[in-house]
Amino acid sequence: SSASEEKDLVVIGGGPGGYVAAIKAAQLGLKTACVERRGALGGTCLNVGCIPSKSLLHNTHLLHQAQHEFKKRGIEVGEVRANLEQMMKQKEAAVNALTRGVEGLLKKNKVDYVKGHGRIVSANEVEVDGLDGKKQTLRTKNILIATGSEPTPFPGMEIDEKQIVTSTGALSLTEVPKKMIVIGGGVIGLELGSVWNRLGAEVTVVEYMDAIGAGMDGTMAKQFHKLLAKQGMKFKLGTKVVGSSKEDGRVKVHVESAKGGASETLEADVVLLSVGRRPVTDNLGLESVGIELDERGRVKIDQEFRTQHPNIRCVGDVTYGPMLAHKAEEEGIAAVEYFAGAHGHVNYDVIPSVIYTHPEVAWCGKTEEQVKASGIKYKVGTFPFLANSRAKTNDDTDGMVKVIADAETDRMLGAHIIGPNAGEMIAEAVLAMEYGASSEDVARTCHAHPTLSEAFKEACLATYDKSINF
Ligand code: FAD
Ligand code: NAI
Repeated sequence: SSASEEKDLVVIGGGPGGYVAAIKAAQLGLKTACVERRGALGGTCLNVGCIPSKSLLHNTHLLHQAQHEFKKRGIEVGEVRANLEQMMKQKEAAVNALTRGVEGLLKKNKVDYVKGHGRIVSANEVEVDGLDGKKQTLRTKNILIATGSEPTPFPGMEIDEKQIVTSTGALSLTEVPKKMIVIGGGVIGLELGSVWNRLGAEVTVVEYMDAIGAGMDGTMAKQFHKLLAKQGMKFKLGTKVVGSSKEDGRVKVHVESAKGGASETLEADVVLLSVGRRPVTDNLGLESVGIELDERGRVKIDQEFRTQHPNIRCVGDVTYGPMLAHKAEEEGIAAVEYFAGAHGHVNYDVIPSVIYTHPEVAWCGKTEEQVKASGIKYKVGTFPFLANSRAKTNDDTDGMVKVIADAETDRMLGAHIIGPNAGEMIAEAVLAMEYGASSEDVARTCHAHPTLSEAFKEACLATYDKSINF
C-alpha cells in the first residue's frame, strides 16, 4: 500500500503494544501503518528493556556459576574472568537480531513501517516528522496510541547515563563500578543491581518502603530480600534519598530514614535511578484533539481502550495498568479486535509478573495481603524447592512455592514462586487461574518427574491436604 492512500489504522509507537497491534490489524485485513521514532522497532522492551537486561542477567548468572559453583559441580576450568565488552556485544547482537526480526514481520504482514515522530493533528490525521527530515501526513480511519513510557527522573539529580544512570545507562556501562547505589528496590533496581553485583560491584539498594519488590507478596519479599543479601547485595530499606552531589568523580547520595531522623551520606561511582517509569506523550498532539491525561500523565481510556474519540484507542505503558510487555501486547491485540468490529478481552486478574534474578521470582493473582484485606477466607499451601528432587539434583534449591486458595471453593486466588525457572513455571498458574481452576484441580493433574513443576503441584496439594514430599 502506498503512503498517500488512506489507512484503516495508524499505530503510533513500535513497542510490544504497537507492533503486535499493527501485525494483528494487518492480519485482520486492515490497511495499517506503524510510526516509530527511535530508528528501530521493538520499543523500550527490545531496545533498552526486557531483552538487553535478560541477556546480561543470563550471562552474568553463567559467570557467577563458573566462578563460584563449577568446582563443586566437578567442572574444572582455568581462570574465569568477565569480558564486559564481549558481554555487551552479545547483548547487542540479540537486540539487533530481534528488532530486525520485527521489521521483517511488519514487512511480511504488509504493515507500512514509517520512521519518524508521529503527532495527531486531527481525529483522522497523523503528521510524521520523518527521521529522513521529510514531513508527511497519514490519513486514517483509526489511530492507536502506543507510545510507551520512560524513566521517571529524580528531582535534583541530573542524569548523564554514565555516572547517574537510568536503566538505559546501566545496560551499557563500559566498566564495572566499584560501588553502585541503586535508588529504588523495584524490578529494575533488583535485576540490574544483580547484574552489576555479579560482575563485582558493591551494590547498595536504597528503598523507601520497608520491603523490596514493589508490592509483591510480603512473605515472598522477605525471603527474596534474604536471598539477594546472601548473594552480597546490600539494602537500606525504609530509607529515602534527599539529595545528591558530585565530587571528585564520585557521586554522594544523601539519605534519611523514611520516618524522619537519622541521615547519612553514601558514596558511589555509579548511581542507578530506578524509582518507576512515566508515560510518554510529548508533542503527540493530544491537546489538539481533546484527549485527556490522568493525574499521573496516563492517557485516559474506557474499558474498550477508547479515548475521548471512539476511533482513537490507546494501549500499553502510556495508559493504566502494570507496565509490562506482555500486558501491552494483550491490549494491542484486544484494541485492534475492537477496531475490526469484534470484541477484545484482557483478563487483568491473571497477568503474570516475573523478576529475572537468580532465583527468579514470579507471581500471578493476589498477594496474601490483598486476599486478607478483601475479607475472603483463604488457605495457603507452600512447598520449598529444597524438597523438590530436580532442584536438589541441580543443586539449585533456593526458594519456595506459595499458593493461596479460597477456603470455601478452593479456587486458586494467587500463586507466588521464588525458584529456578519460576518465570516459566508461573505459566501453569496463569493458565489454571484463567480457567478458574481449584488448587485440587492442579494437584490431581499429573506432572512429569523429576521436574521443578512438581513443587507447584505439591504446594497446591498443601492448600487442602498434606504435601507428600515435605
Ligand atoms: P514501549 O515499549 O515504550 O514502546 C513505545 C515506542 O513508541 C517507543 O519505541 C518510542 O520510541 C515510540 N514513540 C513514543 N512516542 C512516539 C511518537 N510520538 N511517534 C513515534 N514513536 C513514538 N516488561 C516485561 O514484561 N518483562 C521484562 O522483563 C521487562 N524488563 C524491562 C527491563 C527494563 C530495563 C525496562 C526499562 C523495562 C522492562 N519491561 C519489562 C517493561 C517493558 O519494556 C514495557 O512494559 C513495554 O516495553 C511497554 O510496551 P509499549 O509498547 O507500551 O511501550
Ligand atoms: P518499580 O515501580 O518496580 O519500583 C520502584 C521502586 O522505587 C519502588 O519500590 C518504590 O517504593 C521505590 N521508590 C520510589 N521513590 C523512591 C525514593 N525517593 N527513594 C527510594 N525508593 C523509592 O519501578 P522500576 O524498578 O523503575 O521499574 C519500572 C517498571 O518497569 C516496573 O513497573 C515494571 O513494570 C517494568 N519492568 C519490568 C520488568 C520485568 O517484568 N521483569 C523488569 C524491569 C522493569
